[in-house]
Amino acid sequence: MRILVTGGLGYIGAHTVVALIEQNFDVVVVDDLSNTSLSALDGIEKITGVKPDFFEVDLRNQSDVNSFFESQAQIDGVIHFAASKAVGESVTNPFLYYHNNIGGILNLLSGLQKFPNAKFIFSSSCTVYGQADELPITESAPIKPAMSPYGNTKQIGEEILSDMAKADQIQAIALRYFNPIGAHESAEIGELPLGVPQNLVPFITQTAAGLRNQLSVFGADYPTPDGTCIRDYIYVVDLAEAHVVALQRLLSGKNQSNLEIFNLGTGKGSSVLEVINAFEAVSGKKLPYQIVARREGDVTAAYADTQHANQVLGWKAKNDLTHAIATAWKWEQKIRGI
Ligand code: NAD
Ligand code: WQD
Repeated sequence: MRILVTGGLGYIGAHTVVALIEQNFDVVVVDDLSNTSLSALDGIEKITGVKPDFFEVDLRNQSDVNSFFESQAQIDGVIHFAASKAVGESVTNPFLYYHNNIGGILNLLSGLQKFPNAKFIFSSSCTVYGQADELPITESAPIKPAMSPYGNTKQIGEEILSDMAKADQIQAIALRYFNPIGAHESAEIGELPLGVPQNLVPFITQTAAGLRNQLSVFGADYPTPDGTCIRDYIYVVDLAEAHVVALQRLLSGKNQSNLEIFNLGTGKGSSVLEVINAFEAVSGKKLPYQIVARREGDVTAAYADTQHANQVLGWKAKNDLTHAIATAWKWEQKIRGI
């Protein structure tokens, strides 16, 4: 089975390419290298012994996308990661986000008409729930008005697939990730944030590595036990494996509708201070931090109800926060040479 992975040299994509190769899928990667580098391809090869086919293609360019599909004899499934993902940047440059995330999926789906039976997996996000009324969050929780253009592109992506599913034009699964963290145990692949990291765990590891002076904790006055926000941090290798399980479900025709949606999280919420404590425990280092004002747009608490993924998809996160953070720290040390 030949699987196209768009954004397959990115953070979650590279871990998923590894998981696919380990399950003997034939993988072809498309990435424009806008948020990664070719070192991810080497990392994949070091871990698996296989270098997947790679095409440097920008999904915004329909003729390049079409040429890519023309070069392919067979595509049985697509896992579509390629997108821009910085929430703040999407507020200052919404056009970039609609152009890349919506233009990209449309060009991809257009080129994919050459392989009308190809199954489709879409990277969605728990951001579609906004601040959910009930915790843990089930897949039937209402979709809230998007808080950023980025979040809106995930909602629109799901809507495109939903309408195509109703018209029998696609068989797809949308996976709503909670907060992916960590790196492959080998430290051959991991997260490579450009510039100052916006996300908590890379900011923590960069601070401990000496690249940042201290962590700013965005608010300790939330209505949570320690006052800091709560999230569901999911280990990226567990997340990657869920994509393989979802793909196998579609390929074996076990899906119950043309578009299925699953939350991917651990079901356990952790506060910012608990993440800091976990980091200090695994690294043996004291993390300098200060409490500052809340960050605009942050929800108080979000963690997944995992029953649907556990029972219907047949997938469950195996690793806990401590393991995930230990791998994030190992990766940071490796790339900084410490
Ligand atoms: P990432 O930036 O590491 O990976 C995305 C990859 O896509 C990068 O390698 C980038 O170079 C590539 N890309 C971007 N635009 C492209 C284009 N026009 N053409 C070809 N390639 C392009 O991000 P990630 O964290 O691995 O996220 C993967 C997907 O998961 C994204 O769709 C993201 O929105 C979604 N997601 C991520 C998170 C998270 O916290 N990391 C949470 C929920 C959902
Ligand atoms: C986690 C917690 C911050 C940085 C974002 C996107 C979401 C999804 C995942 C793609 C929050 C706090 C953070 C820092 C801090 N991405 N924090 N100091 O905000 O849950 O989700 O990434 O779909 O759409 O919004 O993740 O890692 O940014 O923050 O105190 O320097 O850490 O306030 O409580 P978030 P995050």
